[in-house]
Amino acid sequence: MRPFVFINVAMSADGKISTRERRQVKISGKQDLLRTDMLKAGSDAVMVGIGTVLADNPSLTVKTLELREQRVAQGKDEHPIRVVVDSRGRTPPGADILHKGTGQRIIAVSKRAPFERLKELERYATIVTAGEQEVDLVELFEFLHRHGVRRLMVEGGGTLIWSLFSRGLVDEVQTFVGNMVIGGSDAPTPVDGEGFLREEDFVRLRFADVTPLDGGVLIRWRVKQ
Ligand SMILES: NC(=O)c1ccc[n+]([C@@H]2O[C@H](COP(=O)([O-])OP(=O)(O)OC[C@H]3O[C@@H](n4cnc5c(N)ncnc54)[C@H](OP(=O)(O)O)[C@@H]3O)[C@@H](O)[C@H]2O)c1
Repeated sequence: MRPFVFINVAMSADGKISTRERRQVKISGKQDLLRTDMLKAGSDAVMVGIGTVLADNPSLTVKTLELREQRVAQGKDEHPIRVVVDSRGRTPPGADILHKGTGQRIIAVSKRAPFERLKELERYATIVTAGEQEVDLVELFEFLHRHGVRRLMVEGGGTLIWSLFSRGLVDEVQTFVGNMVIGGSDAPTPVDGEGFLREEDFVRLRFADVTPLDGGVLIRWRVKQ
Protein backbone atom coordinates (compact mmCIF):
# COMPACT_ATOMS: atom_id res chain seq x y z
CA MET A 1 0.00 0.00 0.00
CA ARG A 2 1.22 3.49 -0.80
CA PRO A 3 -0.13 7.06 -0.58
CA PHE A 4 -1.74 8.93 -3.47
CA VAL A 5 1.30 10.64 -5.03
CA PHE A 6 1.12 13.87 -6.96
CA ILE A 7 3.86 15.98 -8.49
CA ASN A 8 3.74 19.76 -8.37
CA VAL A 9 6.36 21.63 -10.40
CA ALA A 10 6.81 25.00 -12.01
CA MET A 11 8.61 25.18 -15.34
CA SER A 12 9.38 27.88 -17.90
CA ALA A 13 7.64 28.02 -21.28
CA ASP A 14 10.64 26.06 -22.66
CA GLY A 15 10.35 23.32 -20.03
CA LYS A 16 13.12 24.20 -17.56
CA ILE A 17 12.73 24.15 -13.78
CA SER A 18 15.87 26.21 -13.05
CA THR A 19 19.01 27.52 -14.74
CA ARG A 20 21.91 25.37 -15.91
CA GLU A 21 23.70 26.40 -12.69
CA ARG A 22 20.73 24.73 -10.90
CA ARG A 23 20.04 28.02 -9.19
CA GLN A 24 16.53 28.52 -7.82
CA VAL A 25 14.53 30.93 -9.97
CA LYS A 26 11.13 32.52 -9.62
CA ILE A 27 8.81 30.91 -12.15
CA SER A 28 5.49 31.24 -10.34
CA GLY A 29 3.67 34.41 -9.34
CA LYS A 30 1.49 35.16 -6.31
CA GLN A 31 -1.53 33.13 -7.46
CA ASP A 32 0.49 30.03 -8.14
CA LEU A 33 2.36 30.30 -4.86
CA LEU A 34 -0.98 30.44 -3.04
CA ARG A 35 -2.24 27.44 -5.04
CA THR A 36 0.92 25.53 -4.09
CA ASP A 37 0.47 26.51 -0.45
CA MET A 38 -3.11 25.17 -0.54
CA LEU A 39 -1.92 21.90 -2.07
CA LYS A 40 0.70 21.62 0.63
CA ALA A 41 -1.78 22.34 3.40
CA GLY A 42 -4.06 19.63 1.99
CA SER A 43 -1.29 17.01 1.97
CA ASP A 44 -0.14 14.67 4.72
CA ALA A 45 3.49 14.90 3.61
CA VAL A 46 5.65 16.89 1.17
CA MET A 47 8.75 15.32 -0.34
CA VAL A 48 11.87 16.55 -2.19
CA GLY A 49 15.20 15.05 -3.25
CA ILE A 50 18.48 16.01 -1.63
CA GLY A 51 19.47 17.83 -4.85
CA THR A 52 16.65 20.29 -4.23
CA VAL A 53 17.58 20.75 -0.56
CA LEU A 54 21.19 21.52 -1.52
CA ALA A 55 20.22 23.84 -4.40
CA ASP A 56 17.25 25.72 -2.97
CA ASN A 57 17.27 25.15 0.80
CA PRO A 58 13.43 25.04 0.91
CA SER A 59 11.59 24.92 4.22
CA LEU A 60 8.47 23.32 2.65
CA THR A 61 6.32 24.97 5.32
CA VAL A 62 2.75 26.19 4.77
CA LYS A 63 3.19 29.94 4.39
CA THR A 64 -0.41 31.17 4.75
CA LEU A 65 -1.53 31.67 8.35
CA GLU A 66 -5.20 30.79 7.64
CA LEU A 67 -4.17 27.49 6.05
CA ARG A 68 -2.04 26.61 9.06
CA GLU A 69 -4.91 27.50 11.38
CA GLN A 70 -7.27 25.29 9.36
CA ARG A 71 -4.87 22.36 9.72
CA VAL A 72 -4.61 22.89 13.47
CA ALA A 73 -8.43 23.11 13.76
CA GLN A 74 -8.54 19.70 12.04
CA GLY A 75 -6.23 18.30 14.71
CA LYS A 76 -3.18 18.23 12.43
CA ASP A 77 0.30 19.76 12.75
CA GLU A 78 0.67 23.25 11.23
CA HIS A 79 2.78 21.79 8.45
CA PRO A 80 2.66 18.42 6.68
CA ILE A 81 5.44 15.92 7.35
CA ARG A 82 8.49 17.00 5.39
CA VAL A 83 10.45 14.23 3.71
CA VAL A 84 13.92 14.37 2.13
CA VAL A 85 15.11 11.52 -0.11
CA ASP A 86 18.81 11.46 0.68
CA SER A 87 20.71 8.13 0.35
CA ARG A 88 23.93 9.36 1.90
CA GLY A 89 22.55 11.61 4.64
CA ARG A 90 23.90 14.76 3.00
CA THR A 91 21.14 17.04 4.34
CA PRO A 92 23.01 19.92 6.04
CA PRO A 93 22.18 19.91 9.77
CA GLY A 94 21.42 23.65 9.43
CA ALA A 95 19.00 23.21 6.48
CA ASP A 96 15.78 25.25 6.73
CA ILE A 97 13.67 22.13 6.29
CA LEU A 98 14.97 20.89 9.67
CA HIS A 99 14.48 24.14 11.54
CA LYS A 100 11.65 26.26 10.11
CA GLY A 101 8.17 25.51 11.45
CA THR A 102 6.99 22.74 13.75
CA GLY A 103 6.08 19.18 12.87
CA GLN A 104 7.73 15.96 11.84
CA ARG A 105 10.62 15.63 9.41
CA ILE A 106 11.77 12.41 7.80
CA ILE A 107 15.12 11.88 6.13
CA ALA A 108 14.99 8.75 4.02
CA VAL A 109 18.45 7.25 3.59
CA SER A 110 19.91 4.01 2.26
CA LYS A 111 22.26 1.59 3.98
CA ARG A 112 25.25 3.49 2.61
CA ALA A 113 24.58 6.59 4.75
CA PRO A 114 27.51 7.11 7.18
CA PHE A 115 26.52 6.54 10.81
CA GLU A 116 28.14 9.79 12.00
CA ARG A 117 25.95 11.92 9.71
CA LEU A 118 22.82 10.11 10.80
CA LYS A 119 23.68 10.57 14.46
CA GLU A 120 23.71 14.34 13.88
CA LEU A 121 20.60 14.40 11.69
CA GLU A 122 18.47 12.32 14.05
CA ARG A 123 18.48 15.25 16.46
CA TYR A 124 16.15 17.01 14.02
CA ALA A 125 14.45 14.29 11.98
CA THR A 126 13.25 10.71 11.97
CA ILE A 127 15.68 8.64 9.93
CA VAL A 128 14.12 5.95 7.75
CA THR A 129 16.50 3.49 6.13
CA ALA A 130 15.21 1.97 2.89
CA GLY A 131 17.38 0.44 0.17
CA GLU A 132 21.01 -0.57 -0.28
CA GLN A 133 22.40 2.14 -2.60
CA GLU A 134 19.73 4.71 -3.42
CA VAL A 135 16.57 5.12 -1.39
CA ASP A 136 14.04 2.37 -2.18
CA LEU A 137 10.99 4.49 -2.91
CA VAL A 138 8.51 1.60 -2.76
CA GLU A 139 9.71 0.70 0.73
CA LEU A 140 9.65 4.37 1.76
CA PHE A 141 6.08 4.79 0.50
CA GLU A 142 4.99 1.67 2.38
CA PHE A 143 6.51 3.16 5.52
CA LEU A 144 4.76 6.50 4.96
CA HIS A 145 1.43 4.76 4.33
CA ARG A 146 1.81 2.70 7.53
CA HIS A 147 2.35 6.00 9.36
CA GLY A 148 -0.87 7.53 8.09
CA VAL A 149 0.32 9.38 4.97
CA ARG A 150 -2.45 9.09 2.39
CA ARG A 151 -1.70 12.13 0.24
CA LEU A 152 1.91 12.84 -0.70
CA MET A 153 3.01 15.94 -2.60
CA VAL A 154 6.33 15.78 -4.47
CA GLU A 155 8.01 19.11 -5.14
CA GLY A 156 11.02 17.92 -7.17
CA GLY A 157 13.57 17.83 -8.48
CA GLY A 158 13.83 16.18 -11.85
CA THR A 159 16.02 13.26 -10.73
CA LEU A 160 13.60 12.17 -8.00
CA ILE A 161 10.58 12.68 -10.26
CA TRP A 162 12.15 10.48 -12.95
CA SER A 163 12.65 7.70 -10.38
CA LEU A 164 9.01 7.96 -9.36
CA PHE A 165 7.74 7.80 -12.94
CA SER A 166 10.08 4.99 -13.91
CA ARG A 167 8.73 2.90 -11.03
CA GLY A 168 5.06 3.68 -11.70
CA LEU A 169 4.66 5.61 -8.45
CA VAL A 170 2.88 8.76 -9.69
CA ASP A 171 -0.88 9.33 -9.77
CA GLU A 172 -1.21 12.97 -10.81
CA VAL A 173 0.92 15.78 -12.24
CA GLN A 174 0.33 19.49 -11.80
CA THR A 175 2.62 21.66 -13.92
CA PHE A 176 2.63 25.41 -13.82
CA VAL A 177 4.07 26.78 -17.07
CA GLY A 178 5.47 30.27 -16.54
CA ASN A 179 5.74 33.00 -19.16
CA MET A 180 9.52 33.05 -19.59
CA VAL A 181 12.28 31.21 -21.44
CA ILE A 182 15.29 29.94 -19.45
CA GLY A 183 17.07 27.80 -22.03
CA GLY A 184 20.21 25.69 -21.64
CA SER A 185 20.58 22.08 -22.72
CA ASP A 186 21.84 21.23 -19.22
CA ALA A 187 19.17 23.12 -17.28
CA PRO A 188 17.01 20.71 -15.26
CA THR A 189 13.54 19.77 -16.48
CA PRO A 190 10.57 18.37 -14.51
CA VAL A 191 11.65 14.81 -15.36
CA ASP A 192 15.37 14.16 -15.87
CA GLY A 193 17.20 10.89 -15.11
CA GLU A 194 17.79 8.37 -17.90
CA GLY A 195 14.47 8.78 -19.69
CA PHE A 196 12.54 6.02 -21.46
CA LEU A 197 13.84 4.68 -24.76
CA ARG A 198 10.86 2.68 -25.99
CA GLU A 199 7.47 4.18 -26.75
CA GLU A 200 5.73 1.30 -25.01
CA ASP A 201 7.43 2.37 -21.77
CA PHE A 202 6.32 6.02 -21.92
CA VAL A 203 4.09 7.04 -19.02
CA ARG A 204 0.70 7.89 -20.48
CA LEU A 205 -1.32 10.77 -19.08
CA ARG A 206 -4.97 11.70 -19.23
CA PHE A 207 -5.60 15.43 -19.52
CA ALA A 208 -7.61 16.77 -16.55
CA ASP A 209 -7.78 20.55 -16.93
CA VAL A 210 -5.93 23.75 -17.75
CA THR A 211 -6.25 27.09 -15.96
CA PRO A 212 -4.69 30.46 -16.89
CA LEU A 213 -2.67 31.68 -13.90
CA ASP A 214 -0.11 34.43 -13.26
CA GLY A 215 0.32 35.10 -16.98
CA GLY A 216 1.08 31.41 -17.58
CA VAL A 217 -1.01 28.23 -17.33
CA LEU A 218 -1.54 25.45 -14.87
CA ILE A 219 -1.99 22.03 -16.48
CA ARG A 220 -3.25 19.01 -14.57
CA TRP A 221 -2.83 15.43 -15.75
CA ARG A 222 -3.82 12.07 -14.30
CA VAL A 223 -1.47 9.17 -14.85
CA LYS A 224 -3.04 6.25 -16.68
CA GLN A 225 -2.32 3.24 -14.47
N1 LIG B 1 10.77 24.71 -10.45
C1 LIG B 1 10.45 23.78 -9.59
O1 LIG B 1 9.26 23.50 -9.38
C2 LIG B 1 11.52 23.05 -8.86
C3 LIG B 1 11.19 22.24 -7.77
C4 LIG B 1 12.19 21.54 -7.12
C5 LIG B 1 13.50 21.61 -7.58
N2 LIG B 1 13.81 22.39 -8.62
C6 LIG B 1 15.20 22.45 -9.13
O2 LIG B 1 15.64 21.12 -9.36
C7 LIG B 1 17.06 21.05 -9.16
C8 LIG B 1 17.37 19.89 -8.24
O3 LIG B 1 16.96 18.70 -8.84
P1 LIG B 1 17.93 17.44 -8.93
O4 LIG B 1 17.39 16.59 -10.01
O5 LIG B 1 19.33 17.91 -9.01
O6 LIG B 1 17.79 16.77 -7.51
P2 LIG B 1 16.58 16.03 -6.72
O7 LIG B 1 15.69 15.31 -7.67
O8 LIG B 1 15.97 17.01 -5.80
O9 LIG B 1 17.40 14.99 -5.83
C9 LIG B 1 18.02 13.89 -6.48
C10 LIG B 1 18.91 13.14 -5.51
O10 LIG B 1 18.13 12.41 -4.58
C11 LIG B 1 18.90 11.30 -4.14
N3 LIG B 1 18.13 10.06 -4.24
C12 LIG B 1 18.17 9.09 -3.30
N4 LIG B 1 17.41 8.07 -3.66
C13 LIG B 1 16.88 8.38 -4.86
C14 LIG B 1 16.02 7.68 -5.73
N5 LIG B 1 15.52 6.48 -5.45
N6 LIG B 1 15.70 8.27 -6.89
C15 LIG B 1 16.15 9.50 -7.19
N7 LIG B 1 16.98 10.21 -6.40
C16 LIG B 1 17.35 9.64 -5.23
C17 LIG B 1 20.11 11.22 -5.05
O11 LIG B 1 21.25 11.75 -4.37
P3 LIG B 1 22.06 10.80 -3.35
O12 LIG B 1 22.56 9.66 -4.19
O13 LIG B 1 23.12 11.62 -2.77
O14 LIG B 1 21.08 10.35 -2.35
C18 LIG B 1 19.75 12.12 -6.20
O15 LIG B 1 20.87 12.68 -6.85
C19 LIG B 1 17.48 22.40 -8.62
O16 LIG B 1 18.03 23.15 -9.66
C20 LIG B 1 16.18 23.02 -8.14
O17 LIG B 1 16.21 24.43 -8.23
C21 LIG B 1 12.86 23.12 -9.28
